[in-house]
Amino acid sequence: MKNHLNEPVTIAVVGSGYVGLVASACFAEIGHSVICVDNDEAKVRTLQTGGIPIHEDYLPELLNQHRGGRLEFTTDLRTAAQTAQAIFIAVGTPQSRTGSADLSFVDAVASEIARSIDSYKVIVEKSTVPVYTNEWIRRVIERNGVPKDLFDVASNPEFLREGTAVVDFLHPDRIVVGAATDRASALLKRIYEPLTSGEYYRGDNRIPGPRGENELPPLLLTSTKAAEIIKHASNAFLATKISFINVVANICEAAGADVEEVAKGIGLDSRIGNKFLRAGVGYGGSCFPKDVAAFRNVAELVGVDFGLLHEVEKINEEQILRFFQKVRSALWTFRGKKIGVLGLAFKGGTDDIRESPAIEIVQKLLSEGCIVSAYDPAAEARTKETIPPGAKMRYVDSPYAAAQDADALLILNDWSEFAELDLAKLHYTLRYPIVIDGRNLYDPATMTEHGFTYLSVGRPGLSQPVDPITVFHEPRKRGRA
Ligand code: UDX
Repeated sequence: MKNHLNEPVTIAVVGSGYVGLVASACFAEIGHSVICVDNDEAKVRTLQTGGIPIHEDYLPELLNQHRGGRLEFTTDLRTAAQTAQAIFIAVGTPQSRTGSADLSFVDAVASEIARSIDSYKVIVEKSTVPVYTNEWIRRVIERNGVPKDLFDVASNPEFLREGTAVVDFLHPDRIVVGAATDRASALLKRIYEPLTSGEYYRGDNRIPGPRGENELPPLLLTSTKAAEIIKHASNAFLATKISFINVVANICEAAGADVEEVAKGIGLDSRIGNKFLRAGVGYGGSCFPKDVAAFRNVAELVGVDFGLLHEVEKINEEQILRFFQKVRSALWTFRGKKIGVLGLAFKGGTDDIRESPAIEIVQKLLSEGCIVSAYDPAAEARTKETIPPGAKMRYVDSPYAAAQDADALLILNDWSEFAELDLAKLHYTLRYPIVIDGRNLYDPATMTEHGFTYLSVGRPGLSQPVDPITVFHEPRKRGRA
């Protein structure tokens, strides 16, 4: 049998952020030779010397295994582009003031690649970019004098979730390849063949995940434009699902139903599916907010009214305000109140605080004069860059330390350890036994049995303000200062 691992492709990945770094490590893991390029010298040095800049499951293992072997890090884009057969562009596409994606990094990298190449290359967009970007990259490269037959531009969007990005890469639902020529699609197929042929899953040391020899991931070949739209439409659809369930949660709350039961009932319809139907404080992160805005902008540019996405964004913004209102209704006044906070990252399992609803809520609490004790297993360091520690903001190292003598405990993201608290201990630790859960991690009946005033999202009776007499006149526990 042909062993594709013996026919590695030499790949350059430009950008060592979440996408670029994970893609680099995973391409090396499936047998290719990878040069990961970044213009941030300090970051490259960190990566060369064994540092790991992001919190991502299995990434340390892959970097340790392949660094210095099939995987190298450099700031030298020119040499990397000349050496590689395929050059993946995985640089940032931040949101501009108008909501559109800022493609200046992609433009700069494309120009530099154009100035470097002297043999045929497939240049692959991996960053999330609006439709027509492929076309623009092609034009930039041609303008720099590169003959048409010396390159192809393809689109290979990623669907990686932070925290589980390595498993998502190696065990994908699908691989989307948008290419205009057979030459380009053949190289991309070869790159992913260890996954699509099952060869990787037969190996002894593979990273475990849902795919296997009998569950091979499909590779979908499309036009470059379709691939670009698939990426934006996927994220916009998932964000829509979350906003949809959040509104349903608000209806449940008013009507006295439990959104968890409703979500289960909806999700069992196989046409809908049960994923991304968890109500909460709204979506955040580096992708959904940016991509919804960018896709809305694409629609505008091509003259299509996509008002639905405006609503999705509006609902998401209001969801944080509703939650904050819930906290206010439980505490009455804010100034001088001590609040325990569990979760700072935009979701559990990551250290990323970009567009994190938790950070927005903490900042609001601080501006209202609260004293916050926050715990997050991974996001403390990044949060300190935004909210320095001080008299009003303390960082602690356990959920119970966050709850210590607090007037209320807020759960703002879904790290699994937050769902496994010792409730008796938590009750004892809090000054007042109030838990306001923005992620529905607990069963309301269990919390009531344990003596908590428990507010969550979209569960019965929660639209009523908390009865101040029951909550604030509850006797302090014996033995407490
Ligand atoms: C997302 C996409 O899932 C991924 O395919 C894409 O490549 C990048 O963007 P990520 O940003 O890592 O990944 O996070 P994801 O797990 O999708 O969650 C996004 C946000 O939605 C988080 O704030 C999360 O807490 C929230 N969310 C998710 C909900 O509020 N409810 C849900 O049911 C699911």
